[in-house]
Amino acid sequence: MDCDAIEQLFVNNRQWAADKLSRDPEFFERLLNQQTPRYLWIGCSDSRVPANQIVGLEPGEIFVHRNVANLVVHTDLNALSVIHYAVAVLGVRDILVVGHYGCGGVETALRGSRSGLIDNWLRHVEDIRDLHSDQLATIDRHSARHDRLCELNVIHQVLNISQTSVLRDAWERGQVVAIHGWCYRLSDGLIHDLGVSARSHEEACRQFRKVQASDPHELGA
Ligand code: CO
Repeated sequence: MDCDAIEQLFVNNRQWAADKLSRDPEFFERLLNQQTPRYLWIGCSDSRVPANQIVGLEPGEIFVHRNVANLVVHTDLNALSVIHYAVAVLGVRDILVVGHYGCGGVETALRGSRSGLIDNWLRHVEDIRDLHSDQLATIDRHSARHDRLCELNVIHQVLNISQTSVLRDAWERGQVVAIHGWCYRLSDGLIHDLGVSARSHEEACRQFRKVQASDPHELGA
């Protein structure tokens, strides 16, 4: 049974490659010779949030890093290497931090429930929950509290990225690269811009202070 499921992937793959070629005979040849994506996507591993499809981009157009709850932790060599390669080598212009409402990782952190090894990873989201506990406590509905923590998590990751040596160095040498904070809604397939885009470290700090002072219901409404 499982063999059939795996074999189906090869059937799909051959069909996909044939479709691409029939529409554009030079498609793969072109990709072979260049990787110049404009965007870096940092998103959740959730199977319902596939980067390319959501923003309608083809192979070669977006560089992608995904992990549970779309985190960029300062000591995560994996994420930092992706960001460094994307910014310093590929020269991406926009870094998109894309969280999503209905995130299992964020929900687990919000409830403080135990799931095993992943609790250590989600502790980063719990830290954000605790940092904003006053603000979250003013929100009555659990689902709205969840949505807000999804947003706050994205906003913190935007700030984290702006503080990496990679971005500080890039901005210092005058490279134009912006970081954006978005949240994707599973129920309608739409992306909400959280309005925290930053093109410099100072701007990221300014955006963050604005968020800290803002009304809890203001963002992502
Ligand atoms: Co998620």
